[in-house]
Amino acid sequence: MKRIVILFSGQGSNMLRIIEEVKKHKDIEVVAAITNKKEAEGIQRLKPYDIALNIISHKDYDSREEFDQELVNRINYYKPDLVVLAGFMRILTPIFTQNIKSINLHPSMLPLFKGAKAIEQSYANADKPAGISVHWVSEELDGGSVIAQKELPRIEGEAFESFKNRIHLLEYELLPHTVVRLLQ
Ligand code: GAR
Repeated sequence: MKRIVILFSGQGSNMLRIIEEVKKHKDIEVVAAITNKKEAEGIQRLKPYDIALNIISHKDYDSREEFDQELVNRINYYKPDLVVLAGFMRILTPIFTQNIKSINLHPSMLPLFKGAKAIEQSYANADKPAGISVHWVSEELDGGSVIAQKELPRIEGEAFESFKNRIHLLEYELLPHTVVRLLQ
């Protein structure tokens, strides 16, 4: 059995898509989810599932390193084959990146628009490609090698909300399929 641990900070909509996709595969399971936010909306969405939930608030730790060490300990407890960052909004230290093999979802065509405002920046820069990336997590923020990408065709005059929704729809396809592909 291949084991997945998912990290999230907010809505958890991508986490849900992974959980649903993995259900179709008897040899893969999501064993745990970890969030750094007590109030993350994704916590409620996990209720129907038999998946261990861990809330580790970064506010309870004095440094990034101490928080990351606790994350590493908790992740290793579940002995995952793959760790997926699905909307996990933390800058990670080498304590995490050197000890955990993980992938991250990012809402732009990396290396374009790294960081927390990727959708806004992609939207504003209509001369550059928009899309999404799944990449290996490395020490450099949003800088690890790309595993899969999907470009979003531009629609002239499109409103930001519509653009953002289409980015999310692309994510719901690419991330679950990439997770399964990496484990098979
Ligand atoms: C997703 O759009 C993901 O690409 C983005 O956060 C959102 C999480 O949504 N991640 C980043 O910006 C990472 N830098 P979700 O919580 O509903 O899955």
